[in-house]
Amino acid sequence: MPDIVGGRYAKKISQELNLKLHLLERRVYPDSEVCPRVQVQGELSDTIYFVLRPKKNQNLNAYLTEYLFTLKNLNEKVSNIFAFMPYFVYARQDKAFREGEPFSSKYIAELIEQCGATTFTTINVHGHRQKLDNLFSIHSQNLSAISLLAEYAKQRFQFEKPIILGPDDEAVTWAKEFADILGVDRYDAVHKERDLETGEIETVLPSITFEDRDIIVVDDIIATGNTMVSTMRKTKKRGANSISAFVVHPVLVKNALEKLKRLKPNAIIATNTLASPISKVDAREAIIENIKASL
Ligand code: R5P
Repeated sequence: MPDIVGGRYAKKISQELNLKLHLLERRVYPDSEVCPRVQVQGELSDTIYFVLRPKKNQNLNAYLTEYLFTLKNLNEKVSNIFAFMPYFVYARQDKAFREGEPFSSKYIAELIEQCGATTFTTINVHGHRQKLDNLFSIHSQNLSAISLLAEYAKQRFQFEKPIILGPDDEAVTWAKEFADILGVDRYDAVHKERDLETGEIETVLPSITFEDRDIIVVDDIIATGNTMVSTMRKTKKRGANSISAFVVHPVLVKNALEKLKRLKPNAIIATNTLASPISKVDAREAIIENIKASL
């Protein structure tokens, strides 16, 4: 049987699948260098599921270093490593937007491969310009946690005449997935333009009626919150009855949560691909289902 290597996040996965867990000790030296140590329990299986997410408020570069060091370390000991990275760091830089910039997501994919991953799996990485297949030459999978968010919404909230909105053109896929589970036929996308120099965004709502409707905005990420705030503020101005946000990855930087709360939303819910105060939905369910299917 395969074993699991990972942080505490992997514990539930190992328990549900009845696979042995070798917990990672995530040591950090005073100068910030990391030293992740696989605490091997007896023998290490020749096939490993490696699942690691960032610790609460962990610097993502430190996390990436831990991730790559552990992969490489495992690669020196075992034949197969099925690597899971719930939040794919650097995925948003999926091309060199301006001359002289790195094609970061491609470089990260190459590092993951060079460190020995046999396959790579993540959750709701956006595909504005690149699909995972274009980044990786090993088998890669992009799981979706949108259905888990939608099921959570269905069980806990009552929405009146809901419209599910993606806050940019690509997010319409997630809006539809969410709408299908809620049994709602109204979904649409906001058009968004981002200034590459300043990072500022401009959003244009679709020409539909928002009046007296409950608006649910579904996206992959809330980082600065600017995309979500802009969409929510505009739908409110256009007469929305209530506004709610459902996202997969709560990156939450630059007071994103405070900015959102000022709009008095009905709900702001995320998964736990990253630890946050709004991480109410367990994205590990998607990982567990995926591993189950391969066992
Ligand atoms: C971008 O295309 C993504 O889908 C998100 O909408 C974006 O990353 C959110 O970023 P922020 O919260 O900083 O506006």
